[in-house]
Amino acid sequence: LNNGLALTPQMGWNSWNFFACNITEDLIRETADALVSTGLADLGYVYVNIDDCWSAASRDSEGQLVPDLKTFPSGIKALADYVHGKGLKLGIYSDAGAFTCQVRPGSLFHEVDDAELFASWEVDYLKYDNCFNLGIDPKKRYPPMRDALNATGRTIFYSLCEWGVDDPALWARGVGNSWRTTDDINDTWARIIFEMIDCHLLNDEGRTRLLCSPYLHPHPHPPHLTTSEARELKCMTTIADLNDKWASYAGPGGWNDPDMLEVGNGGMTYQEYRAHFSIWALMKAPLLIGCDVRNITDETFEILSNKEVIAVNQDSLGVQGRKVYASGEDNCLQVWAGPLSGNRLVVALWNRCSKAATITAKWEALGLESSTSVSVRDLWQHKDLTDNAVSSFGAKVASHDCHMYIFTPKTAAHSAI
Ligand code: GLA
Repeated sequence: LNNGLALTPQMGWNSWNFFACNITEDLIRETADALVSTGLADLGYVYVNIDDCWSAASRDSEGQLVPDLKTFPSGIKALADYVHGKGLKLGIYSDAGAFTCQVRPGSLFHEVDDAELFASWEVDYLKYDNCFNLGIDPKKRYPPMRDALNATGRTIFYSLCEWGVDDPALWARGVGNSWRTTDDINDTWARIIFEMIDCHLLNDEGRTRLLCSPYLHPHPHPPHLTTSEARELKCMTTIADLNDKWASYAGPGGWNDPDMLEVGNGGMTYQEYRAHFSIWALMKAPLLIGCDVRNITDETFEILSNKEVIAVNQDSLGVQGRKVYASGEDNCLQVWAGPLSGNRLVVALWNRCSKAATITAKWEALGLESSTSVSVRDLWQHKDLTDNAVSSFGAKVASHDCHMYIFTPKTAAHSAI
């Protein structure tokens, strides 16, 4: 969306992944404090986004949205003032349907009123969900809120949360600043590795038949198949792979959104979180922290504060990196890469297998001439490894871990990946 925002993917924090509906104005204030005191704000994490459950169960007598007075007694404007006073920005949440996913009032057919209200509260960001959508085409439900936000005169980041239902990458660039490409993430490696979606089976006529889709409404989603069933059906895919599919549609102004970070929520190992963060950064995904930053551990902080990885995500070229090579059983030994400004490349070696293995990035897969000599910087070890790698570069990568590098070619330029 051409509103001057999202020249690089948005960075910040969102309440949903860790707190779900257990949110209060104190939590939001304390989170803003913690983003500043930890230094995360200075690294770019500036949006403090309130997700579902901030509002009362119904609109007031004048038809306006009102905050839940038990949990947000001072109101959203006071919170915005507080957050702005810290040099941060405030985000809020609503739904392009009759209700939000947690059955609070939605904004469908109230777009103008709600956008004006959000602007009057000096909100900076709107996440706009897809529950209880009455079966109306998202292409009809999302643009009215864009227009209403635009008409307020306040510049508000517009984040579409349509779960990838109707391939938003194909139409949302002119509508929002980011669009979800997948169903909800959760704090498990399986979610990043496996996700049941659009399970098709060849029917007798050789045509595909939809067996299950997580996108039926209302939430909660229908039960997913077990992993073994999915393997049999060959309909296994993952959040990372789904988002990868739309790589060419991302760019300054509008980004693919594979959902918010789970780093620090406890369900994955250090290596798995590092891989999650690396691949999200490389894919130019929004970097929205989803843990309790008031109680952040050193390990979590180390991952989220890796300046070199953040710089990949925020690189001015704004090209989404993608999976360029896969080998091994189930193609679980992978090379992901993409171009960066200054003729550099980001290269990730991601081991999605269950054993340690050597993964090799060949220049051919990276679009480099085989004679090109590159210097290699390791973004997790923070070390220059060599200034003379030619034709390939490999490393032993622990199971589920991900190494991340910047390659700077010294001779012939690389062609675009
Ligand atoms: C949907 C969204 C989530 C979150 C919840 C809140 O599931 O995809 O990101 O906002 O609703 O209810």
